[in-house]
Order: sequence, then structure tokens, then C-alpha cells
Amino acid sequence: MRVLSALLLVCVFTGSVRGDSNITETPVKTPVKTPVKTPVKTLLKSSFHLYAEGSVFEETCALVPFRSESLQRCGYNTSLPLVLIIHGWTMNGLMEQWIFNLASALKVRLAQVNVLISDWRILALQPYPIAAKNSRQVGRDVAALLQWLEEAGHLSLDRVHLIGYSLGAHVAGFAGSHFRGRRKVGRITGLDPAGPHFEGLPAFDRLSPDDAQFVDAIHTFTKSSIMPGVGIKQSVAHVDFYPNGGSFQPGCKMLDIYSNVFQYGLQGVPKTIKCAHERAVKLFTDSLINTSQPIIGFRCRDDSTFNKGRCLDCKQMRCNTLGYDVRQERAGRNAKGLYLKTGPEAPYKVFHYQIRVQLTNLMEPVETSLFLTLNGTRGLSRDLPLTLYQDSSSPKAFTSLAAVAADLGHLTSIRLVWKGELVWSNWLRSIRNIWNGPDQDLELSVWRIRIKSGESQEKMWFCGVSAEVTLLKASEEQEFKRCSSSSMANAQRTETQT
Ligand SMILES: *[C@@H]1O[C@H](CO)[C@@H](O)[C@H](O)[C@H]1NC(C)=O
Ligand SMILES: *[C@@H]1O[C@H](CO)[C@@H](O)[C@H](O)[C@H]1NC(C)=O
Ligand SMILES: *[C@@H]1O[C@H](CO)[C@@H](O)[C@H](O)[C@H]1NC(C)=O
Ligand SMILES: *[C@@H]1O[C@H](CO)[C@@H](O)[C@H](O)[C@H]1NC(C)=O
Repeated sequence: MRVLSALLLVCVFTGSVRGDSNITETPVKTPVKTPVKTPVKTLLKSSFHLYAEGSVFEETCALVPFRSESLQRCGYNTSLPLVLIIHGWTMNGLMEQWIFNLASALKVRLAQVNVLISDWRILALQPYPIAAKNSRQVGRDVAALLQWLEEAGHLSLDRVHLIGYSLGAHVAGFAGSHFRGRRKVGRITGLDPAGPHFEGLPAFDRLSPDDAQFVDAIHTFTKSSIMPGVGIKQSVAHVDFYPNGGSFQPGCKMLDIYSNVFQYGLQGVPKTIKCAHERAVKLFTDSLINTSQPIIGFRCRDDSTFNKGRCLDCKQMRCNTLGYDVRQERAGRNAKGLYLKTGPEAPYKVFHYQIRVQLTNLMEPVETSLFLTLNGTRGLSRDLPLTLYQDSSSPKAFTSLAAVAADLGHLTSIRLVWKGELVWSNWLRSIRNIWNGPDQDLELSVWRIRIKSGESQEKMWFCGVSAEVTLLKASEEQEFKRCSSSSMANAQRTETQT
């Protein structure tokens, strides 16, 4: 499967990768960005269209740069801020549906806004390497448009938000890079910025935090060890979100690539790719519509650390809101990405819990699996599979991450069970080694469980119902209730010590 998907992607992204593409970090900025001279209008190779409503391109109104009368004709309101949507590479030359969904969501949410759609399909309907190269030209076009609107439409660049998908994210970056110093575009949002031909390049050759006062990015289909990916993996923004690790998305089945290819031939490849790639757009569009339950991301070193439940912390601005309502912070250049889980379909939001189990009988570092049931005032979530990872701070503490689709409210009790020997074979072996007795009844001695909600930041301690230490035998479910305040104070003390 790995070979096949890699081969298929090579078919899609034909052309060689630039020799210098292995530069990983770019501490020095030697931008050779020349300010836009008064552009000659005939040089513009792309066009711009004002969106009012609807979901067909024909209903938009062509805004012709340097023709001020087109502002009036289209009903462009010069006192409003501007959002420009920039599409990416295209294989069929069609204006895709997501553009209109996003434009419509912007209108619904912001009302008082000019929404423009960039059309650079002629330059994008090319072999990928050529389209990638053309993104620079389109960036110049966008910069020319903005400069004209500054003059003719009294637009302040502070009030400009460029939203680019895939290659369009780099177009936005190139556009922003034409403005320097205090005169910068207000915001750029990169929706799964394209990776091939950009990954590892210096900041001035791709979208980067220098390109606007604030840059945010959502990465949803980046390269991983098993997946080729088409999005850029490295951080390109002030705030980079990596939903589900950023390399693939739930609800998108890589296996579909086979049936899609079978059904549609090579055209089936983009179908599969689009699911995870376009998820970034879906998440952003949803954030405009569904404001009651914002999706939160948590700063973390990497996805595997996040999966161990180590990063559900909101202190010192370590968490942020994904999408339109992101808190605009200009963190350091080497700030870590923000990680989160999502569901496979809308509503994408899930609720994150960190589970920290304290055992008394494990002396060796082992990874082990359990099933957890969370019982809260607003709901119940049964049999969440948990892998426990040893907490580096304490040899008997293990952590894990659980994500549930609905808000469970205030947790009142939890249950733990281990099912099936298969999952446990490694662990059993370790236990046997420790105890050295083949006839010994195997059990896990659970002292206390701490659960922390990522969304509410509430920490809760759970104790066994009958004894100080609960013995968990294979297939036997055990209940834990909120610890009494005295034992909790005790637990808290222990927490702070470890
Ligand atoms: C980049 O590629 C060159 C040539 O393949 C190699 O010599 C060099 O070590 C690479 N650098 C990094 C940082 O990978
Ligand atoms: C333009 O927007 C401003 C601010 O919202 C509003 O007061 C004005 O009526 C609008 N003009 C037109 C022509 O719609
Ligand atoms: C908004 O989010 C809530 C909570 O996740 C969900 O119940 C609701 O269906 C969502 N609404 C839309 C329109 O997605
Ligand atoms: C969940 O907790 C409630 C009380 O808070 C209890 O009545 C109910 O039986 C519990 N459900 C499970 C499955 O433990």
C-alpha cells in the first residue's frame, strides 16, 4: 500500500524536487523581496471576483484592478474589511465547492465584509511543478490588487485577511511578502499549505510568519512514515495546528484509494487525497459557523507526546482556538505546534481527557492497554481503549489520552477493565518476570487515577470504592469514584511531589 500510494502520488506530483529542499530551518532572513512597483495591469494573469451569495462562480462579480468603476459595478463597499480566498492547484479547472461554502460562511458570520475569490485557474491547471512556480506570479497579482485597493478603495492592509488553501497558502505568503515593515497584511490563514516543492525551503520561498502581522495554519495531510501527504509538515505560521497529528484524518480512508482508482482511474487519486487535504478547509469553515463550541488545540512537542496525554495544558497560553477565532499571538519562531483530536465528520469537536493512573505493583517500564468508561453528569462514554505510557516523572505513574465525542459534563465515576490476553501479552510477560511465579494470580494494583479535562482544565481524582488500592484482574471491571476530600488533598500533595 505504501509503495502504491507513493507511486500514485508521484504520478500526481510529477517533476523533480529542488536540490536545496533539504534545508530544514531558516534562521537567517535574506529576503530579496522587491516592493511592488506600480504594476502594469495587463501583466495580471489572475482575476478577482466579489462574492455576494450563492454557490456558483457565475454569480460573482469580476473586480478589475485599476478600473475603479468596477468597484461600484460590483457593489464593493470601501468601508469594509476584505477577505480574499485563494484556491490551490487544480486538475479539472473547476471552482470547487469548498470555495463557496467558505465564502458563504464568511458572509454569514461577519456580514460586514467584502469577500473576494481569486481565480488563477489558468496558472493552476498545469503540471504541479509549474503550478507551484506560478504561485509566485499569482502572489504578485494579489499584491497588486491590494495596492490598488489601498489607493482606490481606501483599504487599510490591517483589515485584509488572505485565506489560501494548499498552493493558495503560498500564494498568500508571496502576496504578503511584498509588503514590508509596518505596512503588512493583517492576517494570512494557510489551509493545509502545500508541501511538495515548499517543504524545507527558506522562509521567503514559502508561506512564513513574516508574510503578515499574524499567520495561522491548519495542517491536515502532511507526509508521514506511512503516508506520502501533500501538505507541508513544518511550521509555517505563528500558530500551526496539527489536527490528529496532521498527517491523516479520521473518516478519510487511505484504502479508498484502491476503489477510487479502480472506479475513476488516476482521477481517483485526488478524490482520496482531497478528503484529508480539504479537512483543513472544513475545520476552518466550521469554526465560522459553529461558535458555541470552539475546537481547542494544545501546544505539544509532537504527536506521539500528545497521544500520551502529556499536553492538555492551557497555562501560559499553551492552548488556542482552531479556526477563525484563534487568539492572535506572535509566539517565538520555534514555538511548538498545537495538537488536537477531531471526530471523522461534523461536528468535528471532541473532548480531550488526560488519564494518569498510579499503580503500586509495577516496577518496570511497560506500555499497557486498558478500557476506560467515563461517567459524567451529562453523558457516558464506554470502553475507550487506553494505552498507558510510563510517566517519565514517576516510575509507577502512567498516562494516556482519551477523546470523546460529547461533553460528559462533570465526571462522577469511572470504570477500568482489561479485556483479552492478546493485548496484554507483553505486559503479562513483564509481570511474570517481576514476580517470578507462574501460578500467581495476575493483577494490577491501582492506587489512584487522575483525570484532567483539556476543555475545562478541571482535574479530578478517582479512588477505588472499597479499598485504598484496587486490584484489577483480567476481564474484571472495577469502579472508581471521586476521592473524598481528605484523600484528594493527599493525592494532590503527592501530585505536586512527583
Ligand atoms: C542536504 O543534501 C545534501 C546533498 O544530498 C547533503 O550532502 C546534505 O547533508 C543534506 N543536508 C541536510 C541538512 O540534510
Ligand atoms: C458600507 O458599509 C458601511 C459600514 O458597515 C455601511 O454603513 C454602509 O451603509 C455600506 N454602504 C453600502 C453602500 O452598502
Ligand atoms: C456545533 O457543535 C456542537 C458541539 O460539538 C454540535 O452539537 C453541533 O451539532 C454543531 N453544529 C454544527 C452546525 O455543526
Ligand atoms: C453513572 O453515574 C450515575 C450516578 O452519578 C449512576 O446512577 C449510573 O449507574 C452510572 N452509570 C454507570 C454505567 O456506571
